[in-house]
Amino acid sequence: MSKLLQAIRGMNDILPEQSPLWRYFEGAVASLLDGYGYRQIRMPIVEATELFKRSIGEVTDIVEKEMYTFDDRNGDSLTLRPEGTASCVRAVLEHGISNNGQVQKLWYIGPMFRHERPQKGRYRQFHQIGVEVFNLAGPDIDAELIVLTWRLWGLLGIRNAVTLELNSLGTSEARATYRDALVQYLAARSESLDEDSKRRLKSNPLRILDSKVPETQALLIDAPKLADYLDEESRVHFDGLKARLDAAGIPYVINPKLVRGLDYYSKTVFEWLTDQLGAQGTVCAGGRYDGLVEQMGGKPTAGVGFAMGIERLILLLETLQQVPEEISRQVDVYLCALGEAAELAGLKLAERLRDQLPGLRLQVNAGAGNFKSQLKKADKSGALFALVVGEDELAQQVIGFKPLRGQGEQQNIAWSELSQHLAACLQQA
Ligand code: HAM
Repeated sequence: MSKLLQAIRGMNDILPEQSPLWRYFEGAVASLLDGYGYRQIRMPIVEATELFKRSIGEVTDIVEKEMYTFDDRNGDSLTLRPEGTASCVRAVLEHGISNNGQVQKLWYIGPMFRHERPQKGRYRQFHQIGVEVFNLAGPDIDAELIVLTWRLWGLLGIRNAVTLELNSLGTSEARATYRDALVQYLAARSESLDEDSKRRLKSNPLRILDSKVPETQALLIDAPKLADYLDEESRVHFDGLKARLDAAGIPYVINPKLVRGLDYYSKTVFEWLTDQLGAQGTVCAGGRYDGLVEQMGGKPTAGVGFAMGIERLILLLETLQQVPEEISRQVDVYLCALGEAAELAGLKLAERLRDQLPGLRLQVNAGAGNFKSQLKKADKSGALFALVVGEDELAQQVIGFKPLRGQGEQQNIAWSELSQHLAACLQQA
């Protein structure tokens, strides 16, 4: 026997039992975003490697060690997208849809790829829903993004399990001044730094702030603080955001060490965290990236957005038992037919019901079997009602209508009254 092949480590199948929850979650986010006036954009999964190097930054973990990069048959270097912001900026520029100050409020959904060490909540193929807004520079839109995620947590029943952390990274000028001060402070104490932080001291010193190494954290207690280096514009922007969150009643924590792992951010950055999932507790994260469009060859264009990790939010819904019961039921009605003539009549009746009751989830028995085995399958399908056609029913032009979840006895219903009866019963169920 030949060896069975398996999925790539860290890349998961989403099985039929799991799909209803994914569809419920995706549907909830999509209709929420519709309600706030966001429009969907779909970008390719593969892009030129250069795109991610230039946007995310050459000396980030993602670009240095996590990208799935390969040469295609023409010898061009391509990469499976590790995130969506870079592709979205590329698409917006390529199609000129944010030219001349045009506001764009966009969202996307799909798989992302990072070669990280897989564990609960961290995968090599994972899925994000991301939102990006172009040409709105004020804190009102930063606040809207946070307000709409807060509403989503409410709809999903997970508000009590998430906290919002906020920081401002300032403008790139302010950050450069701060970076110098931080490097000066840490360089004088470099013998106490861990190896990773020593390396980052040269390449990306701000990332040292979120080092997990206790000695490095201790060293940072007296280090210069980014907040003390914020420029006036960023301070006013940040105050504007905080005032709006206060007005909306959304609790938050200022985390001066929140710097994010991608280089394109400026001013606002934020993360929604949960303590319910172990080490991988960030369920949604984002911020402002006012310099990115220009850096990618466009005109100066304000940008802000976030992405949420679908796997992590699904895990959270399951952990908190916030999976609505009705989503696991995939079948309303199961039609059983015995004998060739009854099968043909059943097929016609089923199609007529589908015409009359759009959206009806009706499963017709396939693979024959006696009534007992068909009813067993009907029960297993989760259907609320079984419809039964045999020789007798055929002769009388009726159908046996059998409630499967203890809502009364089986009765015969005339074909002509079936759709009305079924609709009424489903409404009551
Ligand atoms: P990010 O923080 O790299 O930001 O990812 C956003 C979210 O994706 C994370 O908070 C997490 O929920 C999920 N995520 C990331 N990596 C993994 C993984 N390996 N397995 C499972 N889930 C994961 C971005 O990607 C930015 N593009 C967000 C953004 C949009 N900023 C502005 N606009």
